[in-house]
Amino acid sequence: MTELPMSEFLVAPSILSADFARLGEDVARVAHAGADWIHVDVMDGHFVPNITIGAPVVKSLRPVSKLPLDVHLMIENPERYVEDFAKAGADFLTIHIEAMKSPSETEALLRRIRHLGVKPGITLRPVTPVEQLFPFLSLVDLVLVMTVNPGFGGQKFMADQISKISALRNELRRIGHGALIQVDGGVSPETAVLLGDADVLVAGSAVFGAPDVREAIRNLKTARSVAKPVAQ
Ligand code: DX5
Ligand code: ZN
Repeated sequence: MTELPMSEFLVAPSILSADFARLGEDVARVAHAGADWIHVDVMDGHFVPNITIGAPVVKSLRPVSKLPLDVHLMIENPERYVEDFAKAGADFLTIHIEAMKSPSETEALLRRIRHLGVKPGITLRPVTPVEQLFPFLSLVDLVLVMTVNPGFGGQKFMADQISKISALRNELRRIGHGALIQVDGGVSPETAVLLGDADVLVAGSAVFGAPDVREAIRNLKTARSVAKPVAQ
C-alpha cells in the first residue's frame, strides 16, 4: 500500500524539552494545543551519553492523553525492555539499528514488537547509511531519520541528512509499503520546509520553548504546504 503525502505534517512534541516536574500538565497542554502524537525519548546512558526515563513514566502518561505515545528507544539491548513499554501503553516503539547485533535479531525484534500489539519503528544515527534500513522497511509502520546525534534536545539541525528522507520515500514507493517517515532533531518551522518527503515531525525545543505552543505546532504543521517533496 502506498499513500499520498498528507497536506499537513503530523507533529509529535518531544517531552525531552518539557518540564519534568510538571510532565502530565505539559503533555496535556501540547495535546490541547493540537499535537498529533507525544514523542518520548528513552535514553540509557550507554547507547547515548544521557539518561532520561523508562516504562513507568510511559505508564503514568498513558491516562493523561488519548494521543499516540511514540517511544524512541535510544538504549542498548532494546529486546530486554520492549515488553515493559508495550505493557506501559506505548503505541509506537522505535529501535535503533545500531543497537542490534544482527539482521536476524533486528527482524525478530520488529516482529515481536508487532506481536505485542505495538507499531514497530526503526531509526539510525546520522553516521549510519540509510540503505542499512532498507531490508527492514516492510516490517515497520514508522521509519525515523535523525537530524541530530541522538542524546540531547536543542541541537543544530543537520541538513546533510535530508537526502535520507527522499531515499526512504523512493524505497517505500518501490516496495509498495506505506510506513510513515518521521524526522527528529533540530526541527523548527524554518527547517521543516526542507522536509517535504516526511510525514511526522518531532520537535522538542521548537514546541516547548515557544511563547505560544499552539502557534508553534500550527506553524510546523502548515510548513508542509511550502515543503516540496524531492523524491521521484
Ligand atoms: C534527541 C531526541 C529528540 C530531541 C529533539 O536525541 O531524539 O527527540 O528531543 O529535540 P529538539 O527538537 O530540541 O532538537
Ligand atoms: Zn527522539
